[in-house]
Amino acid sequence: MRINIAVDGPAGAGKSTIAKLVAKKRNLIYVDTGAMYRAMALLMIRNGVDLSDTERIISLAETADISIAYEKGEQVVLLNGENVNAFLRTEAVGNAASAVSAIGAVRKKLVQLQQQLAAKSDCIMDGRDIGTCVLPDASCKIYLTASSAVRAKRRFDELTAKGEECDYDKILADIEARDYRDMHREISPLKQAPDAILVDSSDMTVEDVVDRIIELSCGK
Ligand code: DC
Repeated sequence: MRINIAVDGPAGAGKSTIAKLVAKKRNLIYVDTGAMYRAMALLMIRNGVDLSDTERIISLAETADISIAYEKGEQVVLLNGENVNAFLRTEAVGNAASAVSAIGAVRKKLVQLQQQLAAKSDCIMDGRDIGTCVLPDASCKIYLTASSAVRAKRRFDELTAKGEECDYDKILADIEARDYRDMHREISPLKQAPDAILVDSSDMTVEDVVDRIIELSCGK
């Protein structure tokens, strides 16, 4: 039977860091679904699309070719054939992704791609709706969270370490606004699946969380 581990949770909970490490230890493919929504958002930004213009977003999304490849074990997102990984991790793209991902037609297209990947390979997939919608029969479901203050502090430390100037209060406000949008949208809002196990990483180290997920998913 396929091993499919679903990891959902709010922005900044550490899903991708943890999922990448679990993937290595358990020899699974890591599927970052947020990167797919980010690629869609990048396409809209590049085309100067107004993010409140749902019709224009849908028509551009329909013609977009988004696919995934793996290079040296790293997921690469191809947008109309171009590797766009280097452009996906900005706050502007993250915020636009949160808006674009609320649109049903966009979700439908990307969920199909995610389900195909999970059917083909043993994987750990992270996002917002993996346990509730994309992989309802996943062998193990985790809801990974942390307080918004801890998530904002982690982001602040990460940006400061990169030498980027940033403001903690602004980061916290952005995180809380994004949580609200992701949890209150009509289609596939972020929520814990009834059969998902809650892991609160606020007071845990990365190693603790990885060990916990491996313990929870082993044998599944
Ligand atoms: O995990 P991330 O920050 O890369 O995700 C970017 C945005 O994409 C996030 O605000 C919500 C959306 N998203 C989603 O709606 N469903 C997913 N499965 C993954 C991400």
